[in-house]
Amino acid sequence: MKGTFPVSKFRELQTPFYYYDTDLLRETLEVVKNESDRYGNYVVHYAVKANANPKILEVIRDSGMGADCVSGGEIKACLDAGFPAEKVVFAGVGKADWEIELGLDHDIFCFNVESIPELEVINELAAAKGKTANVAFRINPDVAAHTHANITTGLAENKFGISMEDMDHVIDVALGMDHVKFIGLHFHIGSQILDMGDFVALCHRVNELQDRLEARGITFGHVNVGGGLGIDYDHPNEQPIPEFQSYFVTYAEHLKLRPGQTLYFELGRSIVGQCGNLISKVLYVKQGAKKQFAILDAGMTDLIRPALYDAYHQMENITSEAAVESYDVVGPICESSDVFGKEVKLNQVKRGDYIAMRSAGAYGEIMASGYNCRQLPQGYTSDELS
Ligand code: LLP
Repeated sequence: MKGTFPVSKFRELQTPFYYYDTDLLRETLEVVKNESDRYGNYVVHYAVKANANPKILEVIRDSGMGADCVSGGEIKACLDAGFPAEKVVFAGVGKADWEIELGLDHDIFCFNVESIPELEVINELAAAKGKTANVAFRINPDVAAHTHANITTGLAENKFGISMEDMDHVIDVALGMDHVKFIGLHFHIGSQILDMGDFVALCHRVNELQDRLEARGITFGHVNVGGGLGIDYDHPNEQPIPEFQSYFVTYAEHLKLRPGQTLYFELGRSIVGQCGNLISKVLYVKQGAKKQFAILDAGMTDLIRPALYDAYHQMENITSEAAVESYDVVGPICESSDVFGKEVKLNQVKRGDYIAMRSAGAYGEIMASGYNCRQLPQGYTSDELS
C-alpha cells in the first residue's frame, strides 16, 4: 500500500523537501490527548528536538501541549511559536549561562538538572535576578533499552543524569539552596523503544527511588518519565499512529504515583515521526556491474538517520506504477555512507521520478546539515499544498 501525495503540487517545488501531513499530526495529537486524559494526572510535553519547524510547532501549540526543550534555541523557537512559558521545561546535560538566563527571564516551568555544578549555577543566576527556579533532577536509572546503542541514554555508562547513588546527596544540596525549588524527578531511558517491558523496568526503578526517598521524608509532586515510544518504520500506512494506549496503560499499571503527583511525559518521535516525508527527485539511474543505483537529489545532509543509526525509512516511487525492480538508493554526497537503502524494491525508476522517504517527521529536517555547501531542505505542510 502506498501513501497519497499531492504530486502535481510537488512539481512546483524545489526538491528535496520535507512534506508534512498535518491532518495526521492533528489526529495523532488527538489520540495522545484522549489516551493520556483518561488518567487525570498525566501531562504530555512535546520533545521539540524531534522537529522544530515553526509550522509543526504551531499545530502542536494549538493542541495545548507543553514543550520539552534542550537548548536556548529551542526555548526561543517555542516562545516564538506561542507556547506559554509556564508549559516549557528545559533539559540538557550542558546548559550555557545565557540559556539558563533565558529560561529564568521567561519564568519557564522547570529546569531538569543533571549535576551539582549545574545546580549551583542555576541557583546563582536565579539569585542575581531575585528569582527561584523550579528544578527536577534527571536520574540515570541504569535501565537498558532495546534500541540502537547511539540512542540509549539510561545506562550508567551514558553521560546523562545523576546516578541513583548520588541522588540523595544532590537533593539535600538543593534543599539547602535559596533560589532553587526541588519539585521532582526526571528520567529518560532512550528512543525508538517498542518493547513495553523497557518502560516497565523504568517504572520499577522509579518506584524503588520513591520508596527510598519517602523513607527519608522527601516527597515531591512531579515525576517525569521522558519519552522514547517508537514508531513502526516498516508500516507507515498500516500504523500511522503509534501505540499510545498501551504506552500509557503500561505506566498506569506499573508506576506507583503518590496522591497529588503528576506524571509528565516528553514525547517526540511518536508525535511527529509518521506525519513527515522527505520528497526527492531521481537524478540518475546507474547500472553497475552487479546492481543498479537510483541516485537521488536528497542525501545524508537532508536525512542523516540511515548513515548515523543504520535506520531504515520506507521508500516509494510516487510517480510510477511500473513493475518493481531492485535498487541501491543513494544520495549525491561525497561519503560512502550516503546510502538510504540497499536492494530496495521500487516501481521501476527513471530520471525525474519522485521518491518519498516515509516516517521522516522526527529527527529528519531538524538534523539536516549544510555539508558539501548544500542548502537546507524546506518543509511544507499538507495545509499549504491542498
Ligand atoms: N526526553 C529526553 C531527555 C530526550 O533525550 C529525548 C530524546 C526525548 C525526551 C524524546 O524522545 P523520543 O520520544 O523522541 O524518543 N536522533 C535520534 C534520536 C535521539 C533522541 C534524543 N533524545 C534518532 O534519529 O533516532
